Amino acid sequence: MQRVLWITGAGSGMGRAVARSAAAAGWTVVLSGRRAEALRDTASGIDGTTLQIPLDVRDRDAVRAARDRVVAEFGRLDALVLAAGRNTPQRQWDDQDVDTFQDVVAVNLNAVVTVVDAALPDLRASSGLVVVVSSYAGWAFHPNAGVAYSASKSALSSVVRTLNAGEAAHGVRATHLCPGDVATDFLDQRPVVPDAAAREHMLTPDDVARTVQFVLDSPAHVRIDELVVSPVPRR
Ligand SMILES: NC(=O)c1ccc[n+]([C@@H]2O[C@H](COP(=O)([O-])OP(=O)(O)OC[C@H]3O[C@@H](n4cnc5c(N)ncnc54)[C@H](OP(=O)(O)O)[C@@H]3O)[C@@H](O)[C@H]2O)c1
Repeated sequence: MQRVLWITGAGSGMGRAVARSAAAAGWTVVLSGRRAEALRDTASGIDGTTLQIPLDVRDRDAVRAARDRVVAEFGRLDALVLAAGRNTPQRQWDDQDVDTFQDVVAVNLNAVVTVVDAALPDLRASSGLVVVVSSYAGWAFHPNAGVAYSASKSALSSVVRTLNAGEAAHGVRATHLCPGDVATDFLDQRPVVPDAAAREHMLTPDDVARTVQFVLDSPAHVRIDELVVSPVPRR
């Protein structure tokens, strides 16, 4: 029986790299994100079973409908990799606006809870896995990450810990994954966008996908609670 992995943020960056690596390892992958075309591009690099479900993770009804569709199609759901996220260049107390603050929290924090909540019955049935793509900023304080991003990502640690505390008895295992800088489009949201030379010293999406694959491949009696992945400057 092929295991089924649902990835949010699957149209680019780390989500796309995870989709490709998990599919190569034999997982059926369900791809979600807002841009249908980006999901198609991800699927085009995969030789295996994929299902594309474009959605906005802030839309609770869409998330529930997507979960229902996955289960209707495959009869199971074994893992989530939650990579959908956002930041904003206007991120400090002297330039942020509260609407944007709330939206960053809606995507980075509330939507993670929404997707896990929708999938929890299936994850219980499958002794499932949840990999929450958080950040260095969710692991240690980083002033440059911004008010909303820091608040939303650091709260993910509590989301993962409460999930593990409450659901271990059902076999559910969650990982708080905290990468440092990764060379993806995400960096375009910084107030000062890193150039190509700076990006060469960062992690790649494939580096993170390899780490996620390690979690996905772990046996059912092993839980990886937290992982911090750091780039080391190339020499
Ligand atoms: N790059 C870094 O340095 C870095 C470091 C640590 C952690 N992270 C985290 O890693 C995760 C993945 O980021 P990435 O670096 O791979 O960048 P990315 O390529 O920009 O990926 C972010 C993904 O989130 C999706 N997304 C954003 N808002 C969404 C929404 N409302 N509904 C559904 N999907 C949404 C985007 O797809 P659509 O636009 O198509 O919706 C996009 O595919 C993020 O959570 C980010 O916070 C990034």
